[in-house]
Amino acid sequence: MAQVRAVERVLTAYSTTEGAGVRLVRAFGNYEVPQFDPFLLLDDFRINRPENYLAGFPWHPHRGIETVTYMLEGAVEHGDSLGNAGVINGGDVQWMTAGSGIIHQEMPKPVNARMGGFQLWVNLPHAHKMMTPRYQEIKSHQIPVTKTDANVSVRVICGTFNGVTGPVRNIIADPQFLDVTLGPDTVFSCPVIRGHTAVAYIISGEGTFDTSEGHRMRNRDVILFGDGSFIEGRSSDAGLRFLFISGKPIGEPVAWRGPIVMNTREELRLAFQEYQDGTFIKAEA
Ligand code: CO
Repeated sequence: MAQVRAVERVLTAYSTTEGAGVRLVRAFGNYEVPQFDPFLLLDDFRINRPENYLAGFPWHPHRGIETVTYMLEGAVEHGDSLGNAGVINGGDVQWMTAGSGIIHQEMPKPVNARMGGFQLWVNLPHAHKMMTPRYQEIKSHQIPVTKTDANVSVRVICGTFNGVTGPVRNIIADPQFLDVTLGPDTVFSCPVIRGHTAVAYIISGEGTFDTSEGHRMRNRDVILFGDGSFIEGRSSDAGLRFLFISGKPIGEPVAWRGPIVMNTREELRLAFQEYQDGTFIKAEA
């Protein structure tokens, strides 16, 4: 039987500093483990002042996770130990599986004096933590937009909505990643696999979730849903835009330090030792 997912928890994103001094906003992170399992972190770098982002994220390692960078505006220049180099522009997505290890840098650049985007970290289960690293870059025009009516517009980055499947494929947590824009006073519903973690992050406008006339959600509010078969949202007369993510929980111990997320402290110790010794990057399987 269809069952709407209730709003289980509402958080508000908070300011923090990352990389070489980037002043960004964190929707959720290591303090929230394991509530958002398989998701570890969601950073919001819609930043107005260039001095708060130009230092960027110089060369650093990742292991044991997948990272998803979704740009709204501005650009991120990146390069990595697989030999990839390029620019992620407004509307583009980069989905990177760090697996056994990748070393990369990510340097935000303004376009028309604007910069903004999001980075999501998706955990990998033990069986895939040391998988061969890989990288998917998707240009804005490759991301389908589907409309269920004139007031509902959804960019499908990953997973399926309204019969449309996004271009990011074969991700371990079986995630759904949607960018949902609602016109004024519009109802939106979206099926979600029962048992999967479901999260909305508001990026503009106002609205409520589940069937009740609950708390009005605004920019930077994070909604963690309880279980059920679909979510339902309703915009106010201001309209509403949010990111919606869902994924299969992993349910394993999390050992996390900085950019590396493993299952045990010993695996973490080994990862940082290998990074120091220059043996962090593994040969192609
Ligand atoms: Co990184």
